[in-house]
Formats: sequence, structure tokens, C-alpha cells
Amino acid sequence: MGGPEPLRMTSDGPEATAALGSGLAALLGPGDLVLLRGELGAGKTTLVRAVARALGVEGPVTSPTFTVAQRYAGRVPVAHLDAYRLSSPDDEELGLALEAIGDDAVALVEWPDVLAGGLPEPRLEVELRHEGGDRRLVVLTTADPRLHAGLDALVAHLRARHRHPPAEPRPARGG
Ligand SMILES: Nc1ncnc2c1ncn2[C@@H]1O[C@H](COP(=O)(O)OP(=O)(O)OP(=O)(O)O)[C@@H](O)[C@H]1O
Ligand SMILES: [Mg+2]
Repeated sequence: MGGPEPLRMTSDGPEATAALGSGLAALLGPGDLVLLRGELGAGKTTLVRAVARALGVEGPVTSPTFTVAQRYAGRVPVAHLDAYRLSSPDDEELGLALEAIGDDAVALVEWPDVLAGGLPEPRLEVELRHEGGDRRLVVLTTADPRLHAGLDALVAHLRARHRHPPAEPRPARGG
């Protein structure tokens, strides 16, 4: 993917990855495809769950184990695919995946590479890399300058919040 440089941030735990997901949700809309890469346990589903929650999805959001794709109803439909189990998808499996992605949903695909050639152009690619313990390096790549600007602002916001966590509520005075 050409275009602007990838953005990088460090997540120091599942909450930080979820905060990124909530922020991403605000930058995504119907028809957007997000590809998520990273080893087992890197946090792909954690990120997807946070995106879905922020889009109003209430039920469980887990990696679809027996189906490749699942759709959740939110303010915007959310399509969640996990191609981990697919070794070499046949046309029917690819067809089902494309059907689930549709053109009306925010679609997020874990382990997308086996499907890659058959998928539409992603608006965003996310890679999560293990960096020891709970630390993950997150690399965000988009060719869309408007999304890139939004991501840049989001990453800056998350870094600032991390450096200056919200103050504890002060105990009430007097009393
Ligand atoms: N910084 C972090 N970001 C996300 N998850 C983290 C982080 N640190 C620890 N974790 C833990 O790592 C696990 C990530 O699991 P998750 O299912 O999100 O990974 P995944 O990339 O979807 O894996 P899989 O490839 O098996 O689908 C969770 O148990 C989560 O609590
Ligand atoms: Mg997963």
C-alpha cells in the first residue's frame, strides 16, 4: 500500500488496545474494511471487540471459531471474520466471506492473508506485534490521507492520556 507513512504506537495492555479500538470506531464507517495481522494472542480480537462495542454492539464478540464470519448488529453493522482456519479457501468460502463483509458494514478481518487477493481494498491495516509481556507494537497503515490524519490525532491523544492519566476524583472537602 503506498501513501502516507504507517503510524506506530505502543499498547501496554488490553485496555490500551481497547482504547485504540474505541477511537478507531469513530474514524470508520459503512463499507470500510480493516485487516488485522499479528500472531496468536497479539490482541486482534481485543481490538475488534472494542471497535464493535463503540459501534453499539452489545453481545459477546469472540473470534468466530466454527464459522469464518459473523455479523453483529450495532448502530452500524459490524462484520467480523477470522480466516485462521482456512488453509486455502475455495470459491464458496471466499463468496461467504465477501457476503459477510458486504458494503454496509464496518468489516474487520483477522488472519486476512489467505483471503487477501479476493478481498476488496482495505481502508486500514493494523498489525499487532508482541514485544514481551503485555506490550504490543501497533502499526497502522492507510492510503487514505483523511483517515491518516484522524489516526495521527488519535495516536497523539492516546499517548497524552497515557502520560497524564485522568486524576483521581478528589475527596469531597469539609464534611
Ligand atoms: N497490549 C495488549 N493488547 C491486547 N491484548 C493483550 C495485551 N496484553 C495482553 N493481552 C492479552 O492477550 C490476549 C489477546 O487475545 P486476543 O484474542 O485479542 O488475540 P488475537 O490476536 O485475536 O489471537 P488469535 O490469533 O488467537 O485470534 C488477551 O488475553 C489479552 O488480555
Ligand atoms: Mg482472534
